[in-house]
Amino acid sequence: MTDVTCRPLRDDERAWAIDVLTAWWGGPTVAGRGQVWDLHEVPGIVAEAGGERVGLVTYSVEGDRCEIVTMNAFVKGAGGPLLRAVAEVAREAGCDRLQVMTTNDNANAIRFYQRHGMRFAALRVGAVDEARRTLKPQIPEIGNDGIPIRDEIDFVMGLR
Ligand SMILES: CC(C)(COP(=O)(O)OP(=O)(O)OC[C@H]1O[C@@H](n2cnc3c(N)ncnc32)[C@H](O)[C@@H]1OP(=O)(O)O)[C@@H](O)C(=O)NCCC(=O)NCCS
Repeated sequence: MTDVTCRPLRDDERAWAIDVLTAWWGGPTVAGRGQVWDLHEVPGIVAEAGGERVGLVTYSVEGDRCEIVTMNAFVKGAGGPLLRAVAEVAREAGCDRLQVMTTNDNANAIRFYQRHGMRFAALRVGAVDEARRTLKPQIPEIGNDGIPIRDEIDFVMGLR
């Protein structure tokens, strides 16, 4: 893959982003930590390589924290640049930390976030079961590698 560059998601790309993220995450909302984010509202960063969009991260600045809402590399190698780009945006926005929630089945994400400098911060056993019951019934029962999706795992990285 040629060099990956990152830039803000443009307003005229929002419909594309919603389509892509709805296909990945089962709807235009993301539930985590007992909260729901609307993907129509969160800002995003697009990764490009060779004139093609190769990844997308969306995020939410909440006081001194920045939450990664979605992270998708459409080709291998786009994730790292996107993570560095969102960390930079968060730092510029005055955030002290970058955080992200993933699920117990997502071994790729658990490896990815640690490889790129994030650390385990919390494990909420049964939190996905609760979110499926109360916030987002579309969350599938079974995730990657046939693993039941049940628990939330937080990763955090300090930005100072
Ligand atoms: C998790 C995810 C974002 C990781 O993204 P990624 O681009 O694969 O991660 P990295 O940037 O670390 O790159 C991964 C591999 O590509 C390699 N790579 C890096 N730059 C590269 C490049 N320019 N060209 C080719 N390969 C490259 C890395 O060395 C690494 O290889 P290795 O695992 O064999 O060592 C991605 O797997 C993904 O989108 N998953 C589906 C959605 C998801 O689960 N998101 C997280 C939700 S919380």
